[in-house]
Amino acid sequence: MNNSAARDRTDLLSRLAREFQLSSGGAREIIVHFHDEMRRGLAGEASSLKMLPAFVPRPRGTERGSFLALDLGGTNIRVLAASLDGNGRATPGPVSRFAIPRELTTGAGDALFDFLAASVGAFFHDHRLDACRPYDLAFAFSFPFLPLAVAAGRLLSWTKGFAAAGVEGQEVAALLRNALRRRGMENLRVAALVNDTVGTLAAGSYADPACDMGVILGTGTNACYPERAGRLVKYPAAAPEDETIVNIEWGNFDRLPANDYDRELDLASANPGRQRLEKMVSGMYLGELGRRIVLAMTARGLLFRGAAPPACLEPYAWTAEHMALASGDAGDFSGLGLTGAATADKRIVGEICRLVARRAARLAGTAIAAVVTWLDPALDMAHTVAIDGALFAKYPGFPEQMRTLLGELYGDRAPRIAFTPARDGSGIGAAIVAAVAAASRE
Ligand code: GLC
Repeated sequence: MNNSAARDRTDLLSRLAREFQLSSGGAREIIVHFHDEMRRGLAGEASSLKMLPAFVPRPRGTERGSFLALDLGGTNIRVLAASLDGNGRATPGPVSRFAIPRELTTGAGDALFDFLAASVGAFFHDHRLDACRPYDLAFAFSFPFLPLAVAAGRLLSWTKGFAAAGVEGQEVAALLRNALRRRGMENLRVAALVNDTVGTLAAGSYADPACDMGVILGTGTNACYPERAGRLVKYPAAAPEDETIVNIEWGNFDRLPANDYDRELDLASANPGRQRLEKMVSGMYLGELGRRIVLAMTARGLLFRGAAPPACLEPYAWTAEHMALASGDAGDFSGLGLTGAATADKRIVGEICRLVARRAARLAGTAIAAVVTWLDPALDMAHTVAIDGALFAKYPGFPEQMRTLLGELYGDRAPRIAFTPARDGSGIGAAIVAAVAAASRE
């Protein structure tokens, strides 16, 4: 490579660094917009934040019993059992995982729900459970739905690449109930329909009363928090001081500084104009952002001598996990399909991965800061944020970069915001919500 090409590369990298930078000043501005959207969403005004009430408060920690949960969220389905001891301890029982065949996520809705019911059947079979005994089953459904009751809700719109036909606008707990009936599993009662963030908050607060936020940083991203029912102008409550968990659906937040790569990814996605924050932060999109940047640099002749390797050509071929491996110390480029690339090219691809992931982590930290300061503007109290999802749990450096941002914003008050990993929180948490619902029926 000659000198001028080397200079072009360096220039482009510094431009990228600027485009993917989120300064603490930028984060502060986002927080102001975020509060504005929260307020509008709660008031029923037009807002990119849907602010959906879950109609349940946080658990007290005293709920008990055994429950099953079915968790449909991203790339896998999980079916699991959990027992609650009534003393803040939830013990996970047997669990089965099933990969969702890609065609089911975009095919006929009935086929998807039949697959869910078949997965529950396989769970019973694998763990030799008694299929005649009645069970309460919590449905952890990690998509935006308008709750009608604790165990009923209408899917507003698919996210995360799902597009199964005939499901949007439908009551999804009923779709599951029908599918279970079609398989003869009449012993299962769908006892709660729970967004994964709500499950994560329930799991966190069952054990720790200071937990007041549930966050998912995985295939998608979203959060929930406990709100005074009186602030939900569009859903009149029994008593204004009652608490209800609110699912923010923050993935759809859109008052954000987007760059050309963000705009192009959005336009080419299954849901243009929607889930703009999710498309900058979550695991489903990070690899795709990286891939698009690499392709653009290649088209300018600044990488791979201007000829893109086949591995860069397929949309969504790069996952966040591949990116993590490439930008890690071991520099493993096999997942990106770039093992044979020149060292200098790999170094730049690694740098691009780091820029994209760093912005994602700082945006995630910003969104958390917005919700915590909505609850407690001066950060007078301690807050525990329960977080589930592979991006948080497995992406090297992600939590640390979120913490750095909080440190920049709040200095020595930043440690008042504690992160606690809630591994598999959504499934166990959904079971806890079923217990809260059961207790309120008694
Ligand atoms: C998407 C869904 C949301 C879910 C999140 C995390 O943003 O719309 O409901 O909580 O992914 O799985």
